[in-house]
Formats: sequence, C-alpha cells, structure tokens
Amino acid sequence: MRRKTVVDLQKMKAKNEKIAMVTAYDATMARLVDTAGVDMVLVGDSLGMVIQGMEDTLSVTLDDMVYHGRCVARGLSQAHLTVDMPFMSYQVSPEQALLSAGRLIQEGKAQSVKLEGGERSAAGIEKIVTAGIPVVGHIGLTPQSVNSLGGWRVQGRSDDAAEQLIQDAIAVQNAGAFALVLEMVPAELAAEVTAALAIPTIGIGAGPSCDGQVLVCNDLLGLDMSFSPKFLKRYAELENPIKAAVSDYIEEVRAGTFPTEEQSFHRHRTAKKITRLY
Ligand code: KIV
Repeated sequence: MRRKTVVDLQKMKAKNEKIAMVTAYDATMARLVDTAGVDMVLVGDSLGMVIQGMEDTLSVTLDDMVYHGRCVARGLSQAHLTVDMPFMSYQVSPEQALLSAGRLIQEGKAQSVKLEGGERSAAGIEKIVTAGIPVVGHIGLTPQSVNSLGGWRVQGRSDDAAEQLIQDAIAVQNAGAFALVLEMVPAELAAEVTAALAIPTIGIGAGPSCDGQVLVCNDLLGLDMSFSPKFLKRYAELENPIKAAVSDYIEEVRAGTFPTEEQSFHRHRTAKKITRLY
C-alpha cells in the first residue's frame, strides 16, 4: 500500500470526493485512524492542549512537532501526513519558514506542512512551495493568533471580515498551497470560498460545503466530555469507558485478583527448587 500524495488529494476535489482528515499525535492513534481509512492525518499543534495540557498552542516548539511527526509517521501506511508549523517557526521571514518546513520534512517525516495566515503568510508559503515542499494553508480562526483575535470565536461574520477572508484564501492559493483549512467560518462563506478555489478546502466549524473535514482525534472519540464546542460531533464517548476500565484494574490489583494463573509464567518443570534468594 502507498501513502496518499498531494496529487491524489487534489484529484479528490476534481472528482467531488470528500477528504476525511483527523489529527494524531502518536504511532498507536496513527495506526488506528490509518487502518480506518482516513485520507489525511494532521499532527496539529493542538497537541499543546490535548497532549501537553496547555491552555493554547503558543508554547509548542518545532522540536515538539518534529518528535510527534516522527511518531505518527511510523503508524501510517496509506494516509497522507501533514505536520503543523508551530508559533514563531515561520513568522520571522520566508527563509525561517523554509528552514522550519525543511526540518518537518527531513526529521519529522511529514509529506506536507500546514501554517496559519492568509495574505500575511503568502511570502512564506511561496518560499516553501518553491523548494518543493507542499503546503496546507489555514485561515479563519487561527489559534496561534488567539491573543489578537480576542478568543476562540467565529471569523468572517461581518461584510469586511468576509471580504478579507476571501482575499486571504485567494492569496494562499496563489502562493502555491495545495489545500486550505477553514476554521470557525460561517457555512455560507466557507461554501463561497470552496466554490471560488481550485484547491480543496478542509473545514472545522465551517459547514458541510467544504471539500473535506478535519477534527481533533481526542474530540471525535470523546476523550474529554467537558469539551463540547458547537462544531464538534462525537463519534464515540470513550472518557467514561476508559475510566471504568482503569477503575476495574485498580480494584483487582488491590483485591489480589489480578493477575491470575492465566497471566502468570512458570519455570521449567525440571528446574531445581530455589533455596536461597540472595
Ligand atoms: O492544530 C490542529 O489540530 C489544527 C486543526 C484543528 C485544524 O490546526
């Protein structure tokens, strides 16, 4: 089996086939979502929250992304792997963006990289793409700008903001990105952007008209039932079954009913009896 390429993904838009993308941060989850048949796996900088327990994505480093990229790559056999460029790994200059993207490809085993921003990131995207590295853009709610956006809110609601979002989408496409994530954007605006672009759009909180959808794996699996934004649909509720399984284990360890004969090993029948333990 071979891994999906950017050409495969772009053909999906042409054939009107929806792209299913999900995040993963380790080899086990990567293997599970890959076997389920997902088209793209994203090592998102959302790992700052769901793996590192931070409040936002701002402290995630390029080294963190390289490490998790490598872990996830080992679990994939058919899905395309995109790795996020973290905060301050591409904002300084197009040259810095290219060097960071290069590390994610060489060391993090990514097939493409994703970075946030529209017109403001176009020069960086162009530099990376010119070096032969495929780029996914990301506009709308861009979590690395959470402090200037004033929180986690829907973007592009006013006429001016919608106009700017369309300009940003076109700038990302013209800079050479092969796909574009639209996060927390009104559904009608996402539909308009999707129709206007030749490259696939991948939505999260951007309605059903996008060419694909992405969710954080922990969210779609219901690993944290206290997290329930409007855009999220849980396809499982695993938080309580996991807690229940671990509670059963604790109870059996304390009661001495685990392990039993079934989980125990024995010496050879011919082995001598041990008389001294030191
Ligand atoms: O970091 C992430 O997981 C993301 C997706 C939610 C699009 O950027």
